[in-house]
Amino acid sequence: MKIIMLGAPGAGKGTQAKQIADKYKIPHISTGDIFRANIKNGTELGKKAKEYMDQGALVPDELTCDLVMDRIKQDDCKNGFVLDGFPRTIPQAEALDAALTKIGEKMEFAIDVDVPDENIVNRMGGRRACLNCGATYHIVSIPTKKEGICDRCGSEVVLRDDDKPETVQKRLNVYHEQTQPLIDYYKKQGILKSVDGTKPMEDVFTAIVQILEA
Ligand code: AP5
Repeated sequence: MKIIMLGAPGAGKGTQAKQIADKYKIPHISTGDIFRANIKNGTELGKKAKEYMDQGALVPDELTCDLVMDRIKQDDCKNGFVLDGFPRTIPQAEALDAALTKIGEKMEFAIDVDVPDENIVNRMGGRRACLNCGATYHIVSIPTKKEGICDRCGSEVVLRDDDKPETVQKRLNVYHEQTQPLIDYYKKQGILKSVDGTKPMEDVFTAIVQILEA
């Protein structure tokens, strides 16, 4: 099962991708999480990525594509994977298609989690993220059991630097300019499915499972 999660920043791609990965026992590959782990570990890639992420801009394709192509070649991806935050530009989508074509494979599902911009800014201000294990929470809808502490690994949960309102607006602009064209790209390939991301998380997941098992 090879799945791409599409949607605006904060639409709930990560929330759903984690559940898909758990249910179908396939890896969850989030480029945002990979960059944040590199930033935390002070790597060269992390230093470069941070310059772009803090401004709400996209990390250049040349830093992003090889990273994902190497990841999907690993053994645990043999039965599929769920991509979260990649591809985000047409050149990234073309690079992914080319890499899969070479090994006689193709993507099967592109699932767009559809949420209007006005809902996004509210959600992002309430999101808290664990920079250690990647778990995400929301101060109202999914609070941590102990305030400020990740349920899963016990580290501190924080407001991401790029979740400040002014940066969220920039990320939304970048999404509309550079990522939304992927909706047509995958519609033309006949693999685009859309779910209403304004519904409660469990309902969104049920809709996704129905698509994957249809
Ligand atoms: P990335 O980490 O991918 O951020 P994003 O796409 O902006 O998406 P988010 O993680 O912000 O949101 P999400 O859709 O996963 O929502 P979530 O499930 O957390 O990328 C960060 C940055 O890295 C980019 O800006 C860019 O600079 C760089 N980058 C990454 N990939 C790149 C690439 N391929 N190319 C270039 N640059 C790249 O949910 C959000 C909140 O809402 C949470 O609090 C959650 O609990 C809550 N929530 C979720 N679902 C619901 C629901 N149904 N109802 C109510 N609340 C909900």
